[in-house]
Amino acid sequence: MQGSANLNLMIKAARKAGRSLVKDFREVENLQVSAKGPGDFVSKADREAERIIKEELRGARPSYGWLGEETGEADGEDPTRRWIVDPLDGTTNFLHGLPHWAVSIALEHKGEIVAGVVFDAAKDELYYAEKGLGAFMNESRLRVSGRRHMIEAIFATGVPFGGRSTLPATLQDLARLMPVCAGVRRWGSAALDLAYVASGRYDGYWERGINAWDMAAGLILVKEAGGFVGPVREGRDIFESGAVIAGNGELYEPLCKILREAH
Ligand code: IPD
Repeated sequence: MQGSANLNLMIKAARKAGRSLVKDFREVENLQVSAKGPGDFVSKADREAERIIKEELRGARPSYGWLGEETGEADGEDPTRRWIVDPLDGTTNFLHGLPHWAVSIALEHKGEIVAGVVFDAAKDELYYAEKGLGAFMNESRLRVSGRRHMIEAIFATGVPFGGRSTLPATLQDLARLMPVCAGVRRWGSAALDLAYVASGRYDGYWERGINAWDMAAGLILVKEAGGFVGPVREGRDIFESGAVIAGNGELYEPLCKILREAH
């Protein structure tokens, strides 16, 4: 795909941050055995990845706004455009030496995500999409799955941890969904969950209590791969409510029905 200059910039930044994270990831395994553990080291790796991305993106487009997991929000001179960045989505996996984490970078224009990059650096899988131009993984065009029956479908979610208030609702979702589908996965990276919906590996995904930076890039991947995304509660804004549903064309509605009826 012949992407725009902005998409190429996002890819360059994601690859650069990914290289830095892969180096740090190799260190994490050694740190697992030390008494202090890898916690501080991983926070540093995370912050360094955001620094790299910010330097690339804001260096090239100083007028755009910024929303990053580590450094928060900053307005730009151009109020219509902002980068939405999670330098390390799947931090807990990274910390535990599990190779399932990604760099996530999205570009928002007038409140709409117009480009997204999710880079799974450990597996060298680069997912990217631009409005109207389709979604890709490395050189291959992405298409959501064609599964039509819930009982054959695999869904992904994030199960709230550490006392988060959305746990009871998610447990109710699971109780309703699990008996009627082929399985639910909880792999710990929302950006990759959405990338996997875009690539047809998962048939759908939902999560309650999620941040804009975790999902912004993944949402355009799903849409550009022919899937659907929407809020858990009809009429709500996905980012404001922090609750999202994504799915292929056939199973998005049935999934919404199950999740919306539950509450
Ligand atoms: C987390 C991951 C996880 C999701 C959590 C997120 P982080 O992001 O995306 O899958 O369930 O809600 O906070 O903290 O690793 O960037």
